[in-house]
Amino acid sequence: MTHPTVQIAPSILSADFAHLGRDVAAVERGGAALIHVDVMDGHFVPNITIGVPVVRALKKVAGCPLDVHLMIAQPDRYIDDFAKAGADMLSVHVETTPHLHRTIAHIKDRGVKAGAVLNPSTPVTVLDEIAADLDFVLVMSVNPGFGGQAFIPQSLDKVRRVRELLHRHGSTAPIEIDGGIDLSNAAAVVDAGATILVAGNAIFGTADAEGATRALRTLANGVARA
Ligand code: DX5
Ligand code: ZN
Repeated sequence: MTHPTVQIAPSILSADFAHLGRDVAAVERGGAALIHVDVMDGHFVPNITIGVPVVRALKKVAGCPLDVHLMIAQPDRYIDDFAKAGADMLSVHVETTPHLHRTIAHIKDRGVKAGAVLNPSTPVTVLDEIAADLDFVLVMSVNPGFGGQAFIPQSLDKVRRVRELLHRHGSTAPIEIDGGIDLSNAAAVVDAGATILVAGNAIFGTADAEGATRALRTLANGVARA
């Protein structure tokens, strides 16, 4: 079975915040396609992480596009700031905005790729009316808030159902998967239809982030076929 190129998006949530430039450079050498930035506000999710100034600083050192995952209440209030700071992709949780169509249009209007994110308990049907407008869909395979959690197995079937839904709407938008991705499940999520794999702990939780990125990328792209 052949797959399109699978992109690895290391999540800096598990990187060393005192050495972000060094850690970004390491995963880029390992073949990262995107740098995944987890923004948490202590309201929508229980944890607080980083915001606009860190995205602005990362933009100066990153060669890869910045994939900014907003886990915040009222995301509309911050879209312009993240766009100006250099986000190349911005994703919002459907659970955080009653006007998803407006929010997605706002992101695209700023020249940024727009994604919708689904929590594990959120049904895929919520995307029915918006699917054709999305640049990508992010399926959470853990409950958002923390790195290093275990992959929720039902996420595999959910990715399949998102792929079917997008197909029904004539969309070939990529599906990104986030949470608990490692060498043990990467092949399965790619088989299910994911083409962007976020990984935090599996990359920065090792002594060699460059090598871990390369290993995940090689596995996910099924190098055995080559
Ligand atoms: C979870 C974040 C993820 C997280 C992934 O709330 O959205 O991006 O950092 O980390 P791992 O790969 O460790 O589950
Ligand atoms: Zn994330």
